[in-house]
Amino acid sequence: MKRRDFIYLSTIAAGAIMIGCGGSTNSGNGNGVGNGSMGGGTSSSQSDTPLTSRADALPIPTLLRPALRGGVSHYDLTLKNAKHSFFEGVETDTYAINSTYLGPTLLMRDGDAISVNIENRLQEATTIHGHGMHLPANMDGGPHQIIDIGKSWSAQYSVNQKACTNWYHPHLMGKTAEHVYKGLAGLIIIEDSESDALDLPKRYGVDDIPLVLQDRIFNNGQIDYSPSMMEVMQGYVGDTYIANGAIEPTFEAEAKEIRFRILNGSNSSVYELGFSDGRSFKQIATDNAFLETPVSMTRLILSPAERAEIVVDLSTDLNATFSLQEFRKNKTFVKIVVNKEATNTTSLPTTLTSLDKLDPAQAIRTRKFTLSGSRGNFQINGKSMDINRIDERIPLDEVEIWEVENTMMMDHNFHIHATHFMLIERNGSSANVAEHEKGYKDVVYVPSGGSLKFVVKMEDYSDDTSPYMYHCHFLEHEDAGMMGQFVVQ
Ligand code: C2O
Ligand code: CU
Ligand code: CU
Repeated sequence: MKRRDFIYLSTIAAGAIMIGCGGSTNSGNGNGVGNGSMGGGTSSSQSDTPLTSRADALPIPTLLRPALRGGVSHYDLTLKNAKHSFFEGVETDTYAINSTYLGPTLLMRDGDAISVNIENRLQEATTIHGHGMHLPANMDGGPHQIIDIGKSWSAQYSVNQKACTNWYHPHLMGKTAEHVYKGLAGLIIIEDSESDALDLPKRYGVDDIPLVLQDRIFNNGQIDYSPSMMEVMQGYVGDTYIANGAIEPTFEAEAKEIRFRILNGSNSSVYELGFSDGRSFKQIATDNAFLETPVSMTRLILSPAERAEIVVDLSTDLNATFSLQEFRKNKTFVKIVVNKEATNTTSLPTTLTSLDKLDPAQAIRTRKFTLSGSRGNFQINGKSMDINRIDERIPLDEVEIWEVENTMMMDHNFHIHATHFMLIERNGSSANVAEHEKGYKDVVYVPSGGSLKFVVKMEDYSDDTSPYMYHCHFLEHEDAGMMGQFVVQ
């Protein structure tokens, strides 16, 4: 039975957004009940809608341990159409990976030879990119490694980086945003001998909790990817906030230190995260490694694709109830109920790792990247992405400074494939780089009118013919051209 006959208010709201901004560029979902034709509403608030979100426990993505075959760790992923339950009594059409929404968490170890085997059972081509993975360019899963309908592709390389939380997602030219929006994404956890030795919460799903945070626009309970020109510009920002594919789920916590591995998995939303009771927590890792020492904070800003690991100490909070909130839009991501005695204890170390800091004085050259654009046409250094053009040729093993400048009246961020960098300046001063940003990053927030500098060095993999990407990770901007290609040689 379809409930869409009487589930109409969210449709009106979604239609109003498109009318208000000059029309949709893409019909997105085919069930156009009032889609774009029934203006008048000014809010797309979920509170008007008769849809009831399921009162779920926080779903924990399956931890996919590799199958060892011939000394190689294999991960088998199948991309397929699926139906997922976000709302009571509604089956939502999704794209999924071994599940009904999102995909499993791949558990990897530094040094392992791996093969991530991806079978595409969708009705369209896509790719799967290892975001944050330090890998050879032809294994990157970017726009060049297309997996056609019915075909398979394997990313084969050796894990070669520090313990961290990475992720994987599609990267087809012009289609990345839509494919991610429909549900294609998953986490990657890398462990190493250093992370083994640290007294951190490590029980996956118990005190080591993955959190893929997203927002979505639903239309009749269906995922609606139909950005107007205005929404391409400003980002396709939803009014329904989801964590691991559930709307305001509840996490039942032990009264002890809890570690959250947080991914901003949204298309274009900047999240300002914190707890509803204002409690402090410690950030312990940035995108590609632990921080050297934990950094205490009450709010954490993450732009799309950024990750942060945090530890919050609930050891004296038995029976407490609070939530993980997004404070810019004032939405609840996850309700937290501390209702279990601790079944083991951990004690957050004061030293987590030591990071190799590239010396800016050793830099051989500086490259500049200016983010600009106008009406649906986004550019880096005055050029929109062209898959037949190599924008930068970067010598292996040379320290470089990259300067990124956002000249626009809107926010962006900047991501480089296959490597990490270290931030040294924001808006012209090193004093503006926050403590918690002084770690290995692969994507960094560049607010409207802002600029930054980082140090970077391409290491280990060179290939004259296979490019990597750098781009804004607001997916609507990326798909609209704010991306370039580089080869390491
Ligand atoms: Cu998350 Cu080009 O990548
Ligand atoms: Cu990437
Ligand atoms: Cu952008």
